[in-house]
Amino acid sequence: MSKFMDWVDARFPATKMWEDHLSKYYAPKNFNFFYFFGSLALLVLVNQIVTGVWLTMSYTPSAEEAFASVEYIMRDVEYGSILRLLHSTGASAFFIVVYLHMFRGLLYGSYQKPRELVWVFGMLIYLALMAEAFMGYLLPWGQMSYWGAQVIISLFGAIPVIGNDLTQWIRGDYLISGITLNRFFALHVVALPIVILGLVVLHILALHEVGSNNPDGVDIKKHKDENGIPLDGIAFHPYYTVKDIVGVVVFLFIFCFIVFFFPEMGGYFLEKPNFEQANPFKTPEHIAPVWYFTPFYAILRAIPDKLMGVIAMGAAIAVLFVLPWLDRSPVKSMRYKGWLSKIWLVVFCISFVILGILGVLAPTPGRTLLSQVCTFLYFAYFILMPLYTRLEKTKPVPERVTG
Ligand code: HEM
Repeated sequence: MSKFMDWVDARFPATKMWEDHLSKYYAPKNFNFFYFFGSLALLVLVNQIVTGVWLTMSYTPSAEEAFASVEYIMRDVEYGSILRLLHSTGASAFFIVVYLHMFRGLLYGSYQKPRELVWVFGMLIYLALMAEAFMGYLLPWGQMSYWGAQVIISLFGAIPVIGNDLTQWIRGDYLISGITLNRFFALHVVALPIVILGLVVLHILALHEVGSNNPDGVDIKKHKDENGIPLDGIAFHPYYTVKDIVGVVVFLFIFCFIVFFFPEMGGYFLEKPNFEQANPFKTPEHIAPVWYFTPFYAILRAIPDKLMGVIAMGAAIAVLFVLPWLDRSPVKSMRYKGWLSKIWLVVFCISFVILGILGVLAPTPGRTLLSQVCTFLYFAYFILMPLYTRLEKTKPVPERVTG
C-alpha cells in the first residue's frame, strides 16, 4: 500500500492534500454546535446531487410531460417517491443549514479579517443556491412553479428601458413556456451545480489558507508548540471528522423523519397548489414563494413602487457581501462585543424572521406597515454597523481559547 502511495505521490499530491486539509489541518479545539453546519451543508449538497441525478433519469423536461413525469416518479419508479422527497426536503434542509451556518458567521465575526474572502465566496454560493432553488422549482410544472416564476421573472420588467426585452430574453418566449422550462432544466441540472461545486472548493481553500475562526474569535496561531502546532488546535482528522459524524447522525435522524412523515411540512416544503398542473389561464388565489425566499419577498412588497422594491430586495442581499467592511469592531466574537452589537444582532434576526412570516401571508395594510418597519430595521443593522461597532465598549479578549 505504501509503495502504491509513493507511486501516486510522485505523480499527484494525494498525501499532501490529505495532510493539508485533514490530518494536519489544525482547527481550534473549542468548536461548538454552530460548527456542525459547514459539514452538514456539504452532506446536503451531496444528497441534492445524487438524488438529482437519479430524478433526471425519469423526469421529462417538456411542458406537456413534466408534471406527469413527476407523478410517474412518485407512483411507478422504484424508490421514486423517496428519491423525490429526499430532493424536495433536501432543498429546504439546505437553506435551514446554510442560514444557521451564516448566523454562526455573524455571531463569531467569522467574516472579519482575514476571512473576508471566505465570506464573499460563501455569499456567492448563497446567490447561486437561490438561483438553483428558483429554477428547480419550475421543473415539476405545477401551478405554483408556473406562477411563482411568472411573478419573479416579471420583476425584471421593472428595470427601465431594457426591462421588457430582458424578461423576454430570460423566458425565451412571450410567456413562460416549455422553452423556459427547458433552459431552467439545463441550468438547474448542469450549469449551476458546477458553479456551486466550484465555489465550495474555493470557499474551503480560502478557509484553509487562513485557518478556522472559533467561538472566542481568538487567533490560535499566536501560540504554537516547538513543532509549530497551535497549542489550542487539534487535527481535523480524526478529531473533527469523528465529531462531525455525531452531527450527521442527528441531522439524518431529523431529516429522514421529515422525509418519511411530513414531506410537505404543512405546505411549506411542498406547496399545496403545486399538486395541480400549471395552467396559464388560472392564477392561484395567493402566490407566495417557498419559505426560504419569503424574507426578501416581504422586502419587495414593503416598498409601494415596483422598481424601488426590486432595488431594495437586491440591496438586501448585496449588503451582506460588504459585511466584512462594515464591522469595525476590534473583536470578532459576540462574546466580547458590547451591548449594541448584541442588541442589533437580535433585532436583525427577529426582523428577518418576521419578514419571512409576512412574505408567506397575503398583504393587508397592517402587515405592509410591519414589513416596512422590519425592512427598515434589517437595513439599519448594516448601515449603523460601522458606528455601533466602533463606539461600543468591548470586553477584553483572552489570549487562549476558553474551552
Ligand atoms: C453549499 C453551501 C456551503 C458549504 C458546503 C459550506 C461549507 C463550509 C465548510 C465545510 C466550512 C468549514 C466548517 C465550518 O466552519 O463549519 C465553512 C466555513 C465557513 N463558511 Fe461556509 N459553506 C457554505 C455556504 C456558506 C455561506 C452561504 C456563507 C456565508 C455567506 C458561508 C460562510 C462561511 C464562513 C464565514 C466560514 C468560516 C467559519 C469560521 O471559521 O468560523 N458559507 N463552510
